[in-house]
Amino acid sequence: MDWGLKNRIANILKPNNGRGVMLAVDHGYFLGPTESLEVPRRTVAPLVKYCDSLMVTRGVVRTSVDPNHPVPIVLRVSGGTSIIGEDLSNEKITTSVKDAIRINATALAMSIFVGAKYEHNSLVNLGNLVNDAEEYGIPVLAVTAVGKELEKRDARYLSLSCRIAAEFGAHMVKTYFCDNFEKVVNSCPVPVIIAGGPKLPERDALALTYNAIKAGAAGVDMGRNIWQSQYPIPMIRAVRAIVHSNYNLDQAYNLFKTLCKEYPLKNNQKPHLGNNTQNKNRPDQSKAPQQSQKTQQQQPQQPSQSKPQQPRPQQQPRPQQSKPQQPRPQQPKTQMKKQTPPAPPAAQATQ
Ligand code: 5RP
Repeated sequence: MDWGLKNRIANILKPNNGRGVMLAVDHGYFLGPTESLEVPRRTVAPLVKYCDSLMVTRGVVRTSVDPNHPVPIVLRVSGGTSIIGEDLSNEKITTSVKDAIRINATALAMSIFVGAKYEHNSLVNLGNLVNDAEEYGIPVLAVTAVGKELEKRDARYLSLSCRIAAEFGAHMVKTYFCDNFEKVVNSCPVPVIIAGGPKLPERDALALTYNAIKAGAAGVDMGRNIWQSQYPIPMIRAVRAIVHSNYNLDQAYNLFKTLCKEYPLKNNQKPHLGNNTQNKNRPDQSKAPQQSQKTQQQQPQQPSQSKPQQPRPQQQPRPQQSKPQQPRPQQPKTQMKKQTPPAPPAAQATQ
């Protein structure tokens, strides 16, 4: 793999663990000013230092993201449809590779719509985008979109879509979590990251993250379940702890609750974290019995002076933290997973 391509992927999926936290804020390209992303700058600014990369359109990157902050940009370059239009699958490439280079994009992202009316166009677009982007060593993230047909999100369909994306040359694939997610990951030869999908109770969104990582996902490209939470910073930090520090579900949710005391509620909303109901459609939750009943029932309060239990994420690159005592999820596959294992130091020096 070309050095530039490899280096850009390493800015998205950290080489120490092959994982990444991508913050998705590209929704406006077909949803307009969706809830909690009405003013993108306000949504992005407090969160950007906790993500490894930011998925965004060129319009929002230029108007609403601080160019002085060195966050890798995953630039959405497809579009052309809207939520009120006829068919979401009729996307084209709307941003040139030249403009992506001007923006200093680290990767390009586009949607494919397998099985939809415009399947053919979206797949040919992907092939062409990979051709163009590879000329400049820029990786492509394929998004396996389902449009309005959320019920399509099962392992059979998603493994079909992810595999086709990889066959067309996508360097990373974003898809949805589903039952039997291992099938999706194992049959896709490039790293798979998950979208969060529509807003869930926080614990369920963390369960989704945990189960995806356990099944081999290389990370998340998550939006609504972070910035539509009443506690976006605690949420992204808890997601981050699962992805990069191998927290299990209970540890991550406890971290979330602890951090909720440190951060003000978004937009003066009233707190309501009581909905811990497990989503019956989601796979098994992890069990970590160490926490006390008292801790589990603890409700977030308005900011206190107590210190967080975890150090805040550092500016990139962020070294992997050395937590926790819980059994670790299985290692994810990485872009380099089909390659030889790391060479001893002497050999590495020559690579
Ligand atoms: C929209 C996208 C979004 O970036 C993706 O769905 C991730 O966001 P969320 O976690 O809110 O689902 O690609 O097409």
